[in-house]
Amino acid sequence: MKNNSPSLYRTGFFVLICVGLLACQSPSESTDVLPDGKWLEGSDQEKIHSVEKQFRGFGNTMWETGYRYQELYWAGMDKNWEYAEHQLEELAEAVEYGLVRRPKRAESAQYFLNQTIPQMEEAIEQKDSLVFFEEFKLLTESCNSCHAMEEMPFLKVQTPTQRQSPIRW
Ligand code: HEC
Repeated sequence: MKNNSPSLYRTGFFVLICVGLLACQSPSESTDVLPDGKWLEGSDQEKIHSVEKQFRGFGNTMWETGYRYQELYWAGMDKNWEYAEHQLEELAEAVEYGLVRRPKRAESAQYFLNQTIPQMEEAIEQKDSLVFFEEFKLLTESCNSCHAMEEMPFLKVQTPTQRQSPIRW
């Protein structure tokens, strides 16, 4: 019994050291996964805040929306209906994600999301240029009416004139 206790102490001490090392290791492991430059600093909450800021506001969403709106137009010009469908889906998704981050814009976007997008979707399904471009006009009006509701009438969307993407059909 007397002989056992030092080794028991030693084992206990060893276990304690291991636990201690593990505890020290987890934060240093988490800093290892930080991106280059270790720009994410501070408490977890501060880090989340930094990441959140990098997503930017609704302007970023609209930058993407503007691009996809133009690609939708050129898809229609090319009669590339699958590409049109793809762009419309991505456009709607961009607006939906944007509204998660900026819910105060959601009310003005209701008509756009619930009426305009499904109508545009139906028009694409018909694979008919006349139907497509009639609906595209209404889509453009719907963009502008949200801009007006958001008190930014200077953001006037107009029919695209130049292609940006290398996608052609
Ligand atoms: C919520 C309603 C809403 C809808 C629907 C909407 N927009 Fe916007 N749009 C905004 C707001 C708000 C801004 C200003 C965002 C900011 O900078 O904070 C904006 C800004 C823009 C910008 C300028 C982005 C920049 O900063 O460079 C473009 C381009 C744009 N919208 C295009 C469109 C197009 C095209 C559509 C339709 C397919 C559309 N928007 C539909 C609300 C909307």
